[in-house]
Amino acid sequence: MLDKRLKPSVIVKLLDQYVIGQEDAKKIMAVAVYSHYRKIEKAKRDSADVVKSNVLLIGPSGTGKTLLCETLSRILGVPFVTADATSLAQTRYVNDEIEAVLQRLVDKAGGSLERAQLGIVFIDEVDKLKAGPGQPRTASAESVQHALLKIMEGSQVKLAGGQFIDTTNLLFICGGAFVGLEDIMAGSQTYGFISATESDNQNILDRLNARVKPTDLFQFGLIPEFTGRLPMIARFRDLTRDMLVRILVEPKNCLYNQFTEIFRNEGVELAVDRKVFEQIADLAIEYKTGARSLRGIFEEMITPVLYEVPDDPAIKKVEIASLFTEPQYIRQG
Ligand SMILES: Nc1ncnc2c1ncn2[C@@H]1O[C@H](COP(=O)(O)OP(=O)(O)OP(=O)(O)O)[C@@H](O)[C@H]1O
Ligand SMILES: [Mg+2]
Repeated sequence: MLDKRLKPSVIVKLLDQYVIGQEDAKKIMAVAVYSHYRKIEKAKRDSADVVKSNVLLIGPSGTGKTLLCETLSRILGVPFVTADATSLAQTRYVNDEIEAVLQRLVDKAGGSLERAQLGIVFIDEVDKLKAGPGQPRTASAESVQHALLKIMEGSQVKLAGGQFIDTTNLLFICGGAFVGLEDIMAGSQTYGFISATESDNQNILDRLNARVKPTDLFQFGLIPEFTGRLPMIARFRDLTRDMLVRILVEPKNCLYNQFTEIFRNEGVELAVDRKVFEQIADLAIEYKTGARSLRGIFEEMITPVLYEVPDDPAIKKVEIASLFTEPQYIRQG
């Protein structure tokens, strides 16, 4: 089912080509999917039930949560859909919405129910499902959690065409920013007292202290049954300036490669100084949307150049030395 060569370390190496940083999250996810598909294989052999370990991704916006899940599903070659918990909560018929999500999964699997049943469902913004009074005529946040619980546990869901999809072997990944969770965690440092003995490994203690506990999530507003179904928690870190620069230039499909390719098709070489990427990263940090604003800033810089170049076939090279100076056009002859 899962390619035997796709061991966690191999999965992480493949992820590294697209997702910058977030080493902990990559490892946790790689192990999660690896053991998920192994468990299914074993359960098939023993005709037993799969005890699932769904994953919760916590981290600020634009730090790679969705990107990681998408890349992972591509590497594994399994169908993948994302759903938004907030839009689930805004509808009156949450089960219809869930059914639509599962239908999309079947579509992604080319109509194969069998393939779809081994897919990955990413439910984003679960932090918005905090318990509280529901809006009139919409599903309350809590009832959405209950509805999600049911499919996470494994149930037969009837699709519009009359087919039933079995959600038992689906891997569910939930994601959210969980703003305010840090404060809750600061008040529940359970492991702090152990750190007294000298022989303790500080790395392990740090990791335990950074661990999000189900009780923290409960205090945040998720119901215990829901947090209980998400035993694996991966945290995404804020992107540093260096990571933002790397995101611009390193991944196979990074912005810089995309644009050098566009220029190459015009017969023009594009040379952008490293300083420019650092300037873009600095602006992105100010905008506080993770890597999301990189594209906008980069495109704003490059648009006037892309306007100029096709008009002048003599241009052979464009050099950009700073975000705040004019690009240099180097012409033939
Ligand atoms: N760690 C990263 N490595 C490479 N690119 C990244 C990384 N983080 C973000 N990006 C870039 O930023 C874009 C937005 O990231 P993504 O959609 O993964 O954010 P997110 O964490 O899911 O945010 P949100 O919580 O708002 O959904 C990606 O498409 C990608 O281009
Ligand atoms: Mg996302």
